[in-house]
Amino acid sequence: MREDTDMDKLFNNKNNKGQKMWGGRFSASPSEIMQEINVSIDFDKRLALQDIKGSLAHSSMLEAQGIITKEDMLQIHKGLKQIEEEILNLTFPFSPEFEDIHLNIENRLREIIGEAAGRLHTARSRNDQVATDFRLWVRDSLDSFEIQLLELMRALLQKASENTNTIMPGFTHLQSAQPVTFGHHMLAYLEMFNRDKSRFHDCRKRLNECPLGAAALAGTPFPIDRDFTSNALGFSKPMANSLDAVSARDFALEALSAATICATHLSRLSEELVIWMSAQFQFITLTDSYTTGSSIMPQKRNPDAAELIRAKVGRISGSLIALTMVMKGLPLAYSKDMQEDKEPVFDAFDSLDLGLKAMTGMIKDMQPNKEILQAAAGNAFSTATDLADWLVRKLNMPFRNAHHVTGKIVALAEQKGVTLSELTLDEYIKIEPKITKDIYSVLSPLSSAKSRVSYGGTAPAEVEKQVAIWSKILS
Ligand code: ARG
Repeated sequence: MREDTDMDKLFNNKNNKGQKMWGGRFSASPSEIMQEINVSIDFDKRLALQDIKGSLAHSSMLEAQGIITKEDMLQIHKGLKQIEEEILNLTFPFSPEFEDIHLNIENRLREIIGEAAGRLHTARSRNDQVATDFRLWVRDSLDSFEIQLLELMRALLQKASENTNTIMPGFTHLQSAQPVTFGHHMLAYLEMFNRDKSRFHDCRKRLNECPLGAAALAGTPFPIDRDFTSNALGFSKPMANSLDAVSARDFALEALSAATICATHLSRLSEELVIWMSAQFQFITLTDSYTTGSSIMPQKRNPDAAELIRAKVGRISGSLIALTMVMKGLPLAYSKDMQEDKEPVFDAFDSLDLGLKAMTGMIKDMQPNKEILQAAAGNAFSTATDLADWLVRKLNMPFRNAHHVTGKIVALAEQKGVTLSELTLDEYIKIEPKITKDIYSVLSPLSSAKSRVSYGGTAPAEVEKQVAIWSKILS
């Protein structure tokens, strides 16, 4: 058992019962309600490992600069390592009595190593400490989103490469428009998720500057080395303005914006899956792994995962708005309002994390029903544009006229209840005498899709090229 130090006496003295670490100038304890509104440990405990990392770097720097002794630094490191283990083993005694994660850890450090713990907070404030911890936490999340997006993109690529020739209806206004390939549709989402990935990547670059050393707001008279701590924590450089360093939260807003956009993409894809697996469409099948049953209707198979992902964008964009409202109108530098920055970010990122994982699982699980897709691709005169294009190319008709003539042909087919391929050549000729039997070569959904060979188009040949490009990038 180590001897009680002056610090222990200061904090454990009966007269100082309930005394806060910041309580030197206070004679009474805060009211219960004051404590309740002030405490953040229940949620900011998630910053524990980042807080320890920051303290290890800070104390190493203090020692290197001759601000604390080597013995004190070694004590601090030993204590922090023990705390890290306690946190990982879930034995750390988190307590609301010590308000937040920073004071919980500092207090525990004092319990473990005594007096030397009091030197850790030299040339530092909780303001630059929390800004550093939070940046580190958000940075880890951004990195993990990039990895998860890669997984999702690989799953989409796999489905695309298996379905470069799978013909399906392409929609505008959710009305059959022109035949497309299933692979093309998958690659459209792959492109979106790749942009999301690059948004997280860009966000990380701007985030990656180190606030530590800004102290409360104005910097510190101690001869600290901010490059030291910045390097030790993997930041690209120290933030150049101490007022900005402690009060900026645009890194979190930017990360939430990128998360919101990514969540909208997940939501749109979810909506497709919900529609596609309905009995009316039957475009895809999801297995028991990603569907659920109904407690009353025995025949049901519900796409719950897709629906929940579709909904998550509400929470995620809500978090963006919540933090935007917290930050608007805050004067420089730190205000306690900023303690409210964490929960929205934690909630939004948990939701996105789960959404990305569930979507990746669903895409891997999903099987397109090729015959149904192919049949649906020919519905609703989906090759009418091909007919009009034929009139332009073969008869040199201006497109507007061709559009009009095709409209008449569609009206006739509709009136007769037949498809465009089922109209006779005589019927075509009655509307436009120069039409020949060559017209039938462009009326099938497959030939329609095959003809769209422009760069980025839906033709299987084009989609195969894109699949090859993405396979290289993602391998
Ligand atoms: N728990 C606080 C937060 O998250 C830490 C910073 C407290 N700073 C202060 N000056 N009271 O914002």
